[in-house]
Amino acid sequence: MKTPGWWAMALCEAVNDQTPLAVAFAGEELVLFRNAAGQAFALEDRCPHRRVPLALGRVVESGLQCGYHGWTFDGASGGCTQIPNLHADERVPARYAARAFAVREENGFVHVWLGEGAPQGALPSSDYQPSGREFTGSTIVNMSHDQYLDAMLDGPECLLGFPHVRLTDFFLGDLRSEQGRVVLERGAVWSTQILPSQFVVDYPLIVRTAVPLNGGTVRVDLLSEDELPLVTLMIATGANRRGTTSLCWRGYVHEQVPARAPLRWRAARLRKQAPFQVKSLIDGAAVAALLQASSRELRGLRQPRLIPVSAVV
Ligand code: FES
Repeated sequence: MKTPGWWAMALCEAVNDQTPLAVAFAGEELVLFRNAAGQAFALEDRCPHRRVPLALGRVVESGLQCGYHGWTFDGASGGCTQIPNLHADERVPARYAARAFAVREENGFVHVWLGEGAPQGALPSSDYQPSGREFTGSTIVNMSHDQYLDAMLDGPECLLGFPHVRLTDFFLGDLRSEQGRVVLERGAVWSTQILPSQFVVDYPLIVRTAVPLNGGTVRVDLLSEDELPLVTLMIATGANRRGTTSLCWRGYVHEQVPARAPLRWRAARLRKQAPFQVKSLIDGAAVAALLQASSRELRGLRQPRLIPVSAVV
């Protein structure tokens, strides 16, 4: 079962023309690679000959060569282009083709189309327009995809952090739907700040999490109290094998510095330290203790649809 559409599956710099990259996303196991001209391709990570993972093979001039018997598959069509030791009068049977998927690269992500027919619609990273130095990474976390998206709304502090910033449980408004994502804002404070005891507090920072209704790209923004962006982070998420979740992300720090920012935050910025941390080790007890509030609404809105697993290109 998977959600049809474009999925961001890898960082562009992680896909090269030397070593195939295996990815498991949204119920599909794929292999990504480039040709010498730099064009990226996605094939099902399964050789049509004997079902060996193609990611164990190598990239050659005419495509991806399986590591077992050396058959080669074209990246664009998935067709078998070469079988070693074939006689001059023998032809490669057309049915020996790997499933090929449409690929588009934009905003530093490799996107793959998991859907029927011609690819359509905006890419999930289309609202990520970095300026300045980026910070990137990838990992696999030990929780299911649905749980990861739920926790991003119920308790994002379990999954990520901003140095010298403390997220609070105080919601600034209701859950809302915006550009294909469910958006929630919560108050945050500088970690040097002591929270006063009164019920209503002026929060100098806002953390806005936007969780996708379709696909898997989460956007997180750290904003000033005037809603000026300070840090933007895009996390591509996908259901991996055995209940785990694949993540890859890119993010950057914006130009503006809030007037009340503490010295240590300014110093970290000058030293070009990472302005956020995506956790790869997640505290299961902390996630289990989260109140399921906002995620209840997300579950209802994010109903997966069944689509056939036939070839799409
Ligand atoms: S299993 Fe791939 S070529 Fe035989």
